[in-house]
Amino acid sequence: MSRIIDGKAVSAQVKERIKAETAKLKEQGVEVGLAVVIVGDDPASKVYVRNKKKACEEVGFNSYEYAMPAETTEQELLELVNKLNADEKVDGILVQLPLPKHLDDKVIINNIRPDKDVDAFHPINVGHIMIGDYSFLPCTPAGVMELIHSTGVEVKGKKCVVIGRSNIVGKPMAMLLLHENGTVAICHSKTQNLPQVCSQADILVAAVGKPKIITADYIKEGAVVIDVGMDRDENGKLCGDVDFENCKDKAGFISPVPGGVGPMTIAMLMQNTLTAAKLHKGLSGGTDEGTSDGKDRNVWNKLFLHT
Ligand code: GUN
Repeated sequence: MSRIIDGKAVSAQVKERIKAETAKLKEQGVEVGLAVVIVGDDPASKVYVRNKKKACEEVGFNSYEYAMPAETTEQELLELVNKLNADEKVDGILVQLPLPKHLDDKVIINNIRPDKDVDAFHPINVGHIMIGDYSFLPCTPAGVMELIHSTGVEVKGKKCVVIGRSNIVGKPMAMLLLHENGTVAICHSKTQNLPQVCSQADILVAAVGKPKIITADYIKEGAVVIDVGMDRDENGKLCGDVDFENCKDKAGFISPVPGGVGPMTIAMLMQNTLTAAKLHKGLSGGTDEGTSDGKDRNVWNKLFLHT
């Protein structure tokens, strides 16, 4: 019988800490601002943006929403990004993905100031994550790490398998596990004997994007199983990549969908926005709250804040 990892409870703790710190900053006259840009009418994106705005309200940030029509041109979007880059009230900029097909995600992301890139998608931030010297956490992988930490299971020396090699989840996920001294494998659609590889994992992170494909034969008895999937089952009901009912008695710890990784991603976004605000205001260094080793990683003052 496994323990269910409660992402809502863990994310509430993270947000409480952020809220307390934000209130203290306010007493010093410092406000924190996040700009969220959405282009078009994708219903899922609208829900995500609404949840991000709600989280800002919960922790005491100012949120600025920019809803642009689906036919927005690259130039128009870049003009907005540049305006937000220059706006002192805006500490973090998030452009909700996916963008409409005629817009190139890469061009837009590359134009967000790296010290406002609270998604940590800019190549400069990706590079920092690779080196293990970063201020901004990759939100979803960092949320997964928090959930793993909440189990009390130490990553050091463990066999970790990440299924999925996306730039947003799989690759940075592997890096964070590696930074905590896990022995990490990344699996993908060309991996041979996937169930057999996965069933050796002490820590299994599924980020495949296919409903319930991970069944009990992929799971080692007692493993920590984290489900990053946000899929729909045959009845259109929200579910994960992991067949929860099939796996829950074999795993040691398992995260549900919904109520697992989802709320953590937003909590980590709030953490990054707070970090950005503190850096912009010259308060403490690159914060490492939310990271595991408490190392000083204040690279931002040196790299960007003189500009
Ligand atoms: N679309 C789905 N997840 C995300 C995310 O974490 N950040 C952005 N910018 N877009 C997304």
